[in-house]
Order: sequence, then C-alpha cells, then structure tokens
Amino acid sequence: MPGSHPITTLPLSDWHEPFDAGNSWQRELEEGRVLYCPDLSFRLEGTEERFFAAQWSDPKRKSIYIRHGNPELLGSTATGDDRDHLYAMLARFEQHSTALIERLCPSYQGKMRPAGTSFRPRAIGSDTRALSWRKDDRRLHVDAFPSNPTLGMRILRVFANVGDVARSWRVGEPFEDMARHFMSQIPKPSPIMAQLQFRLGITKRVRSDYDHFMLHLHDLAKADMQYQRDCQQIAFDFPPGCVWICFSDQVMHAAMAGQYMLEQTIHVPPQALAYPNETPLAILERLTARPLVEHAAG
Ligand code: SIN
Ligand code: FE
Repeated sequence: MPGSHPITTLPLSDWHEPFDAGNSWQRELEEGRVLYCPDLSFRLEGTEERFFAAQWSDPKRKSIYIRHGNPELLGSTATGDDRDHLYAMLARFEQHSTALIERLCPSYQGKMRPAGTSFRPRAIGSDTRALSWRKDDRRLHVDAFPSNPTLGMRILRVFANVGDVARSWRVGEPFEDMARHFMSQIPKPSPIMAQLQFRLGITKRVRSDYDHFMLHLHDLAKADMQYQRDCQQIAFDFPPGCVWICFSDQVMHAAMAGQYMLEQTIHVPPQALAYPNETPLAILERLTARPLVEHAAG
C-alpha cells in the first residue's frame, strides 16, 4: 500500500442495511486502512443531547465509559435517571457497532469480543494539565497499553462523531514501514522483567515479546518529533455525523482536534481474521524472524 491514500469510503447510510457480500472492505480493514462512512450517523434519541456538557464527566477522566456485560457507568458523575440514560446511549452504540462489524467482517461472528464503549466529551487539547508525550494522542501512534498485554488479540475501533465539529486526524504510513523505521532501536525483551511486572500487578498478564515490541513502537514514534513531522501522513477531518473504523493497533493515527465522539473497542482474536498475514504480529514476526507470542490470544 505504500504511498496510497489510507482511507476507503463506504456508501452506508444505515447501521443495519444489507449490502453486497462481494466487497473488499474486510480485506482493506485488515490491511490497515481506515473505513470511512460519511453518510452513516449515530442518531441521538430523546434528550441525549443534554449529555454534551462538561457537568457529566468525572474531571479526572478523559471519557465516560462502560465495559461489555458490566452494569457500571465509569468516568461520570451522573446519578439516577441521568446515569441510566447515559448508560443506555453507550449500550445502544455498542449494539450498532457490533452489528455493523459482524456484517462487514462475517468471519468475526461468534469470535469477536466487544470490550469498552466510551463517550469522549472533551475538546482535544482542552486539558490544561501537562500531558506527558506518552499520553498525547495528538502524536502519531499505534495503540498499545502498558498494563494490558494483548498477546496478539487485535484492537478494532468504531468511532462516531456525534457533535457539531469535525474531528481532525492524521493517518500515518503503513505499519510495516513504521516498524522497519524503529525496529533497530527496540531493546531485547526480558522474560524476567515480564514475569516480575505481572507478579507485581503492573501488567494484567505476562507481557509477550509481541507486546514489548508494540509498546516500544508506540513510544518511539510518539517521542520522535522529527518522525512526527516528516513521516508519510495525511490530515483528514471526519465531519460531524459520520462513522469510521480501523484496527488502531495497526493504523498510525493522531487526533488533533475535535469534541464529542463515541468509540467502541472490539477485540478480535487472530484466528478470526481473514487475512492473518497482514497483522502487526505477522509483520513483526517476519521482521524478527521468530515467534513473538508463546500462548496465543484466543
Ligand atoms: C486515539 O485513539 O488515539 C484517539 C482517537 C480520537 O480521540 O479521535
Ligand atoms: Fe490511539
């Protein structure tokens, strides 16, 4: 894909409308493209627009969120009916997103796992507290989380811009090009450290070599301002009332501006993928010429 524009436009206008199975959208998604649906919007119901205000957020959190199958509403100060309505809005977005992905990617049916659903009401850049470079999503990165090793489980995300301002992203170069750029700077993984961090409760499971590489790629890209400036990239504004989808562990992305977005995370086990040779795991295993996960996710 070198040099090609990384965004594919989909002509969908309804979350549940049937479409031709003969499209190439699953392949394009798994190859690391962003699927963009300009005519698909997540419609608010009743008085949900009232949630577009700072008063519902826990000031210490960047989003209001739920976790699949868990009745708690997290990151919010809402109580009573307000709490229930916010929860219902997020649960409805989860249902719409998962139904759409099951149709776009039939091989994920029965295997993918919806994880968290979040509402991000803050304007990007509005946080006046000093943001460490590592947490600054205005820098191009692939998603990788220190405490949550994936062991190769994929991170698929569905985004809906629900406010009235565009969300401005940058989308960077293909994963393999980025990995080749930084690979030589990554230290050897230490199995002893991985065990220790798990025993101390720093990680939820023992960090695999794959997760070690992914975390370093996240950090090296974010720390390198010259790379941020000079690497192959495009700027793209997702307008109000649209939806986009990508594997955020694969697509280099940065969110520069915007407010009011819904986001659904779906975990996809590698064996559900139709094109498993395009994954970050497959690419990193080719580049290092060795297996990087001992006990595969599944
Ligand atoms: C991110 O996942 O890096 C941020 C996406 C966004 O806030 O638009
Ligand atoms: Fe991200």
